[in-house]
Amino acid sequence: METGVSEQSAQEGILDFLAVPVLRVEEETGRVLSANAAARALPFSLEAPAPDAVLDETGTPLPAELCPVRRASRGEPLEGVLFRWKTPEGERSFVVHSRLDRSRSPAVATVSFQDVTQWRRAEEDLLRALGARDTFLSVASHELKSPITALQLVLERLQRAARREVGFSGAQLAERLEPALRQVRRLGVLVQNLLDVSRARNNHFDLDRERFELGSLVREVCERFSEQARQAGSQLTLEDCPQVEVHWDRLRMEQALTNLVTNAIKYGAGGPISVRAGLHGGVVSLHVADRGIGVAREDHERIFNPFERASSGHRVESLGLGLYIVREIARAHGGTVELTGRDGGGSCFTLRLPMEAVEEGYE
Ligand SMILES: Nc1ncnc2c1ncn2[C@@H]1O[C@H](COP(=O)(O)OP(=O)(O)OP(=O)(O)O)[C@@H](O)[C@H]1O
Ligand SMILES: [Mg+2]
Repeated sequence: METGVSEQSAQEGILDFLAVPVLRVEEETGRVLSANAAARALPFSLEAPAPDAVLDETGTPLPAELCPVRRASRGEPLEGVLFRWKTPEGERSFVVHSRLDRSRSPAVATVSFQDVTQWRRAEEDLLRALGARDTFLSVASHELKSPITALQLVLERLQRAARREVGFSGAQLAERLEPALRQVRRLGVLVQNLLDVSRARNNHFDLDRERFELGSLVREVCERFSEQARQAGSQLTLEDCPQVEVHWDRLRMEQALTNLVTNAIKYGAGGPISVRAGLHGGVVSLHVADRGIGVAREDHERIFNPFERASSGHRVESLGLGLYIVREIARAHGGTVELTGRDGGGSCFTLRLPMEAVEEGYE
């Protein structure tokens, strides 16, 4: 008897040493005989979960008799069954093993709960990223194909006319070539974006820095897009810009600002768009704000990843690359970009960059 007690406390000492929660449960009654330190440290109950707190792998809530401790105490061996647990700190996933020791009377089930929450999350993120990439491939091929089709039509029409030896004046020819050029420009932007993404992914986003006045760049981008904004029903206004000389890659920064402004036009629902720059302690902030559809809070981080688009307001001609490129350009300059919601709807994107670009992560 003496030996039995000390053997039992030695076993419990070993179980306490394990990081995996373990319960020892009496057969039939389901009475918990012991819970190791890891199980006791949990802020929720493994043996008597709250109603609907335990879900199966697919997310279906399980009735009490199908929860792991009850199953194990009925003598059912559990061999790595996944259970999801709703806890006060969010959902967690456990892989459960159990074994019944019939050498005792009544028999005792030992049940272990391996926490696989982090792996499950990593797996879900990976699957989402793969899904986003697959969608991207189909959207990208559609996007590349449509300007080519349009271009082909324009050129074929011109060729037919030339065969009929219809003479064109220079002005007529120029007018007929305009749609072809538009499609070529569109193709150019698409291919450039694809190239930039592969460069950024391989950390080859080299900067070609020069000194220039910030206002000249901001004004140029605003002027270039004011007509496109007007056609979308939006008024694009440059509200404020300090006089400051920056040491940045001008073309890259133009591209970053362009991506933010074109998004504001695309998702701005025809509302006013404002661009504003400020300078605090050697850091320039550039804000692009719209009053459009906005971005749900849970998508605030995700939309900066390549191929990711928010769930609402999609159009086919969107690849989900623009913001990723903005983030990488900011990063290459030692800066950041973030999205803040706006009271009354809409979005405000803020780029923060040191006046003197510091290269980060691209050495
Ligand atoms: N100003 C905005 N208002 C609301 N949603 C936005 C805004 N800017 C971006 N988004 C959301 O973020 C997603 C990602 O934007 P991003 O610019 O990376 O890609 P895109 O606009 O979809 O395609 P593209 O590669 O042509 O830029 C968009 O699909 C959109 O859902
Ligand atoms: Mg975009």
